[in-house]
Amino acid sequence: MSIKTPDTAKPRITILISGRGSNMAALHRACCSGELDAEITHVISNTPDAAGLDYAAKNGIKTSTIDHRDYADRSDFDQALITAIEKNDPSDMILLAGFMRRLTGEFTRHFYGRLINIHPSLLPRHRGLNTHAGALAAKENWHGCSVHFVSEELDGGPVIARGIVPVLADDTETTLAARVLATEHRLYPTVVQLCLHGNAVCQDRHVIINNQPLCYPLLYRYG
Ligand code: GRF
Repeated sequence: MSIKTPDTAKPRITILISGRGSNMAALHRACCSGELDAEITHVISNTPDAAGLDYAAKNGIKTSTIDHRDYADRSDFDQALITAIEKNDPSDMILLAGFMRRLTGEFTRHFYGRLINIHPSLLPRHRGLNTHAGALAAKENWHGCSVHFVSEELDGGPVIARGIVPVLADDTETTLAARVLATEHRLYPTVVQLCLHGNAVCQDRHVIINNQPLCYPLLYRYG
């Protein structure tokens, strides 16, 4: 496969992953189809064996591994990440897609307003890990995913949009996770397109769309 020449006219995206990278692949497919008018110019993993790196490399996207185990502390690791992002590919947007490292305030402040994450719950419900088990244990009727600007607070930055799915009576963690993931794959490209081309920005602690503060996160239900 030939390496694609970067199209500098398009906004440039760096994606940080740690594992399978299915959201990264969904974002890439959206770029290819034109749904997302942007170019993924760099995929960085903190683990060398992340499956998503193979997908990116096979699709001609520059990849890097910055292994957190090579750094003395979080601050050193985050500084290396900042350098890699800035040096290789100045990016309009940095997307976390299953990136399983907690980032320092130094990092989140550096990129605040162009650093976005997808989280598998209807934030602020079920922050952190094991969100699907949490939703089942809490007997939620609804669950889903959220796309938010990243701040210092874990899963706590301003939420731009949520994708909602029903919790069914016979759901297991596996069935619920699959339903949420399918929604993630649709929501993330939609929201990134909105941020890059639809005047959605982060000011202070607020999402602003077309110069108006967003009172509630946008809500999407697919299917
Ligand atoms: C997704 O559920 C995402 O919301 C969460 O981690 C998972 C990553 O999956 N942050 P993938 O690597 O994109 O397949």
